[in-house]
Amino acid sequence: MELSSAPLHKGQLPWRGLLLAASLLIYWSSPTTAQVSVEPVPPHVAEGANVLLLVHNLPETLRVFFWYKGETVDDRKEIARFLMSNNIKKPGPACSGRERIYRNGSLLFQNVTLKDAGAYMLYMKKKNFDIRKAFVQFHVYPRLPKPKITSKNFYAREGSPEALMCEPETENTSYLWRRNGQSLSEGDRLKLSEDNRTLTLLSVVRNDTGAYECETRNPVSTSRSDPFTLNITYGPDVPIISPSNTYFRSRTNLSLSCQAASSPAMFYWYFNGKILSKVKELFILNITTKNSGSYSCLVYNYVFGIMKTTVKNITVLEPVTTPSIQIRNTTVKELGSVFLTCFSRDTGISIHWLFTGQKLGLTDRMKLSLNNSTLSIDPVRKEDSGKYQCEVSNPVSSERSDPIQLDIIASPTTVQVTVEAVLSHVAEVKNILLRVHNLPDTAQVFFWYKGKTLVKGNEIARFLESKRTNKTRPAYSTREKIHHSGSLLFRIVT
Ligand SMILES: *[C@@H]1O[C@H](CO)[C@@H](O)[C@H](O)[C@H]1NC(C)=O
Ligand SMILES: *[C@@H]1O[C@H](CO)[C@@H](O)[C@H](O)[C@H]1NC(C)=O
Ligand SMILES: *[C@@H]1O[C@H](CO)[C@@H](O)[C@H](O)[C@H]1NC(C)=O
Ligand SMILES: *[C@@H]1O[C@H](CO)[C@@H](O)[C@H](O)[C@H]1NC(C)=O
Ligand SMILES: *[C@@H]1O[C@H](CO)[C@@H](O)[C@H](O)[C@H]1NC(C)=O
Ligand SMILES: *[C@@H]1O[C@H](CO)[C@@H](O)[C@H](O)[C@H]1NC(C)=O
Ligand SMILES: *[C@@H]1O[C@H](CO)[C@@H](O)[C@H](O)[C@H]1NC(C)=O
Ligand SMILES: *[C@@H]1O[C@H](CO)[C@@H](O)[C@H](O)[C@H]1NC(C)=O
Ligand SMILES: *[C@@H]1O[C@H](CO)[C@@H](O)[C@H](O)[C@H]1NC(C)=O
Ligand SMILES: *[C@@H]1O[C@H](CO)[C@@H](O)[C@H](O)[C@H]1NC(C)=O
Repeated sequence: MELSSAPLHKGQLPWRGLLLAASLLIYWSSPTTAQVSVEPVPPHVAEGANVLLLVHNLPETLRVFFWYKGETVDDRKEIARFLMSNNIKKPGPACSGRERIYRNGSLLFQNVTLKDAGAYMLYMKKKNFDIRKAFVQFHVYPRLPKPKITSKNFYAREGSPEALMCEPETENTSYLWRRNGQSLSEGDRLKLSEDNRTLTLLSVVRNDTGAYECETRNPVSTSRSDPFTLNITYGPDVPIISPSNTYFRSRTNLSLSCQAASSPAMFYWYFNGKILSKVKELFILNITTKNSGSYSCLVYNYVFGIMKTTVKNITVLEPVTTPSIQIRNTTVKELGSVFLTCFSRDTGISIHWLFTGQKLGLTDRMKLSLNNSTLSIDPVRKEDSGKYQCEVSNPVSSERSDPIQLDIIASPTTVQVTVEAVLSHVAEVKNILLRVHNLPDTAQVFFWYKGKTLVKGNEIARFLESKRTNKTRPAYSTREKIHHSGSLLFRIVT
């Protein structure tokens, strides 16, 4: 290398700078000056695992090196030595048989025990009789046993504090708590001991019920307890019986459920004061009217010694039978009156009327008897024609009668009867026919009068529908002829 007086260019080093860099390089790479160090691999050792005390920068010019337990040279604590010249390993008094010493300085422990934890010394003698020492220590952590949650009380009382403990206590272990899978930390109603091993619920509430778990951790293992169910004593509230019905149909199954917030809870069912069952759900097959009576559910919290009862009266009813309608005549003249009567064999029923399948809308012409069993319509109108049904029901069933067809026919007054005079010429003779239109079918008798007043002497003739015969009357002139259609023929009109 030449000395250069030329100005320095970017990226060039001056002569002195180069020298310094070179000496630094030598210093860092020199095996004689490098620090010997030992590192435990892995740094956290689990009981029963292996740990290697890994030596870095072992001097090259060694004659022999020793491994001691502890930090002093104590012959009784020598684990092993290694003679470099002839590659010989020798165990020492402190060797347990689980250690292996390597030429590169490292020491391997197999199947580590808790007693192996602590400090170790690597003691080296160089060829020039220099002594070097290096120290290392490691911890051995036990594999954590499965923890278990304990509490003093079988039942936590609502409103009281409750402490849960995670057992067993192990050193250098951290404790974590979960409720229903959610991790818990200190809060309003929660307190953790300093080591987190005790969880205190300051004032238990019902919804603190749940599965609690504790988890233990150390650097080599994690272990979780089985879920612990915290049972909280509360209640009982007044029980509620469902369903809420009072009436039940016979020949069905009766199923009653009793609900009450209580923990713990014991349920009892009574019928008319006699014990029936000790379960929450009462089930009676194929009930009859004999099962009518008073049912009570009692809930008992035996921790507090408190009981609460609810009574329910039940009536079992037979389903109703099919009713029928009685009516004198199903064809009724308009403006007449009609009585429909609903007949049922059952008692304790209610009756409703239906018209063409729909609930009957009562008009001011209609009247119902006190118990609805008779429907009267007065006067009837054409629009009252149709199908009538009655429906009887009790709280558990209903039945409809067969439909009755009611026909309302037009009354004579409503269809206009008209008379038309028809002249006819027969040769010289003139006849006249007073032709009647819309003679009501139901006309029993009809009368012809001369004039506009019903005066006996003015009556010409009458026709009796029942006998289909005529009768002449005082005003008859022998030239009239009365026809069953109502018409009157005058012959030879004058
Ligand atoms: C020394 O030897 C052991 C065993 O062969 C090996 O596991 C370890 O890595 C070696 N140490 C170094 C620093 O090379
Ligand atoms: C590890 O050591 C324990 C006791 O120290 C012994 O019971 C066990 O058999 C050993 N396991 C192995 C794999 O050597
Ligand atoms: C809580 O109650 C349940 C059911 O009654 C029971 O299995 C469990 O052991 C109880 N828990 C405690 C901590 O007593
Ligand atoms: C717990 O850790 C401390 C410090 O880290 C240590 O001195 C002690 O020996 C450890 N105990 C166990 C049982 O590992
Ligand atoms: C206890 O748990 C809290 C988290 O809830 C944590 O911050 C704290 O370090 C833990 N204390 C100990 C001693 O493990
Ligand atoms: C439990 O109830 C308390 C008050 O009664 C409420 O503040 C809290 O949020 C509830 N916790 C849960 C998990 O429901
Ligand atoms: C009543 O219960 C019995 C037995 O559970 C069942 O076989 C029957 O079908 C039930 N009857 C009714 C009407 O539900
Ligand atoms: C229910 O009881 C009645 C008598 O009360 C009986 O006739 C009927 O067969 C019973 N039904 C069933 C399903 O047991
Ligand atoms: C149930 O019936 C009994 C007697 O029939 C009566 O004294 C009682 O008040 C009824 N209870 C209810 C809740 O209706
Ligand atoms: C009465 O009936 C008879 C027999 O049908 C008939 O000959 C006569 O003309 C009728 N008289 C009148 C007034 O219509």
